[in-house]
Amino acid sequence: MDANEIRQKFLDFQVKKGHTIIQPAPLVLENDPTTLFTGAGMQPLLPYLLGKEHKDGTRLADSQPCLRLQDIEDVGDPRHTTVFEMLGNWSLGDYFKEEQIRNFFEFLTHEVGLDPAKIYVTCFIGNEKYGIPKDTEAAEIWQKVFAEAGVEAKIVEIGSAKDGDKRGILPGEHIFFYDDHENWWSRGGGCDSTPIGDPCGPDSEVFYDFGEDKQDVEKYGLAHPASDGARFMEIGNQVFMQYRRAEDGSFVELEKKNVDFGGGLERIAAAAIGSFDVFRTSLMKPIIDKLEEISGKSYDNNTDEMRVIADHIRGAYLLAAQGLIPSNKAHGYAMRRLLRRAILRALDLGISSNFLAEIVPIVSANYRELPDSILTHREDALKVMLKEENAFRQTLNKGLKELHKMGDSLNGTDLFKLQDTYGFPFELSVEECFREGIKLSENYRDEFEAALKEQRERSQTASKGMFKGGLEDHGEQTVKYHTATHLLLAALQKHVSPDICQKGSNITAERVRFDFNVDHKLTDEEIAAVENQVNEWIAADLPVVFDEYDKAYARDTLKAHGQFWDKYPDVLKVYTIGDFDNPISREVCGGPHVEHTGVLGKFVIKKEESSAAGIRRIKAVLE
Ligand code: ALA
Repeated sequence: MDANEIRQKFLDFQVKKGHTIIQPAPLVLENDPTTLFTGAGMQPLLPYLLGKEHKDGTRLADSQPCLRLQDIEDVGDPRHTTVFEMLGNWSLGDYFKEEQIRNFFEFLTHEVGLDPAKIYVTCFIGNEKYGIPKDTEAAEIWQKVFAEAGVEAKIVEIGSAKDGDKRGILPGEHIFFYDDHENWWSRGGGCDSTPIGDPCGPDSEVFYDFGEDKQDVEKYGLAHPASDGARFMEIGNQVFMQYRRAEDGSFVELEKKNVDFGGGLERIAAAAIGSFDVFRTSLMKPIIDKLEEISGKSYDNNTDEMRVIADHIRGAYLLAAQGLIPSNKAHGYAMRRLLRRAILRALDLGISSNFLAEIVPIVSANYRELPDSILTHREDALKVMLKEENAFRQTLNKGLKELHKMGDSLNGTDLFKLQDTYGFPFELSVEECFREGIKLSENYRDEFEAALKEQRERSQTASKGMFKGGLEDHGEQTVKYHTATHLLLAALQKHVSPDICQKGSNITAERVRFDFNVDHKLTDEEIAAVENQVNEWIAADLPVVFDEYDKAYARDTLKAHGQFWDKYPDVLKVYTIGDFDNPISREVCGGPHVEHTGVLGKFVIKKEESSAAGIRRIKAVLE
C-alpha cells in the first residue's frame, strides 16, 4: 500500500466514523504570526480547540502538509524530515479517549494492516507541580483494546526517556507511562514550556516496532518507545486536549474536552511496508532512485546526503508551489536555505550541474493529490526553483574564481576566507585544489579549524550580550521582562531620542534594569510617555516573531537594532514586534520572548537614575 493510498484510506475511514473532511491550510498561515510555518494539523484549528464553533461540526479530519525547520539538523537519520504530511482528526467537545483510541487502533490494524503485536503505546504519568493526574484511563482503554486483538499488554511506569534508556522493556510490556517531556502536548513542548493561552493536554503516542536489530544499544541505550534508536518509531499522537494554560501559568480545564490526533503519513507508510526508513516509502523512493541514477552512487553508501536532498527539495517545492519566492526575508529565506543545502549536498555526491529539473517533476507528481487550494502555484514552482539553482551556482562559481586568483599554493586560512567571504564551502575548495593540482599547506585542515574557531570566539563574545540578552534564566517571568525590555527601548527611541541605544541590561524574574545613552535626566513627562507607550503596546497584544537572516540584510534592509554589528556572526536571529512591514521594535536578539505582548501585564517604571557619564539607567517592573 503506498502513501497516497494510505492518505485516502485515512480520510475515507474518518468519513465512515462521522467526520467531515476539511481543506488543509497553507504552510504559511495568514492569521498566525507566532510560527513561520504550519507545523501541526491543529494549528489552523486553534480557535476551535479553545471553544469556538466550527461550521463543519464537531468531527473533523484532514491531511495537512507541515514544515518543521527546527528539525533540519536531524534530517539524515531514517525518520526525520523537515516536511511531512500530518493525517489529523479532531473531536471538538465530541468523543474522547475511548473512541479515539479504538478508532486509531482499528485504522492501523484493519485498514493499514499492521500487526497489533508490533504496536506499542505511551501515556502520561502525571505532573505533581501542576496537579495533573496520571492518565490511567487511557492506559486501561489501551489494555482492553490490545486484549480484544489477542495481545496481552502489560502497563509499565518509565518516567523520563533517560530512565527508559537504562531500563529497556520486558516481554509482554506494551503500554508505558512517561513524564511531560514525552506525553504532554502543547505547541511549546512540556508543561513548563506550554505557551500562555494555548490549548494542551496529556497525550498518548503510538509506536511501531521495527525489530530488535534496529536498536543501536551502544549509541542509544536499551530500546523503549521514547528512545532515539531506530527500533520504535512514533506513528501517531493522540492529544487529549482538555486544558488551557492560564495567564498565571496554571492549567485550567477547558469547557469542552477535545481530541487532537496527528499521525505522520510518511511514517505510517513506512510501517506499512515494514521499513524503518521513511525514505523508502513511495513518497521518497522515486526521488532517491533518481538521485542514484544521476550521481551513479548508491543510496546505501550515501544515505545521509540523499536523505537531506530528498527532504529539502520536497520542502522547497511545497513552498514554491504555494507561491513563495526565495529571498532573504523570513519565509523566502527558509526556502533559499532548503534549496542551497540540497544543492551543496548534491555536490558532495558529485552532482555539480543543475539537477532540480530532473527531481522536481517527481516531487510534484507525488504531491498531485494535494488540493489546488493550497498548491496555487504548481505550474510556476519549477521555474522559481531553477532560477534559485542558477543564482546559487553563480555564487559558487564566483568562489571558484576567487580560489584560482589566490595562486597555486593555499593554506587553511585562505580556505576559511573563501568560505567566510564568498560562501564557498571548505570541502569544495579542498576538492578543487586536488583536482587542479593546487598545493595545499600540510596543516590546511588545522589552520582552517583555527580560523573558524577564532571567528566563533569573536562572535560568541559579541553574542554574550546578544544571545543571553542579559537574562539570568529562561523562566517565564524573566522571558516576559525580556520582551518588555524591547518595548522599553522602542518607547525611549520614540519619545526621548531616536539615537538611544541599549548600553546594558540585566533581567531577573522580578525586574529589568536597563542602561541607555542620553544626554539628560529624563523629565517626568518623558518617563510618563515612555511608560504609557509600553502599556499601550502591551494592550494592543502585538505579535512577537523571530527569524534568522543574513547579517547585511538584517542591518541594511530590515534596519534591525543591534549593538555589535562588526562582531555578529553572518547569520543572526532578529525579533520583530508588531506588524512585520512596519514594526514597533526590531532587534538582533537570541531570545527567548513571549509570543504576543498581551501577556506581559502592567509596565511600571520605578526609577530613573544616572549610571555613568552620558548613560542613564531605568528600573522597571511588570505588575
Ligand atoms: N498536535 C499533535 C502533534 O503535533 C497531534 O503531535
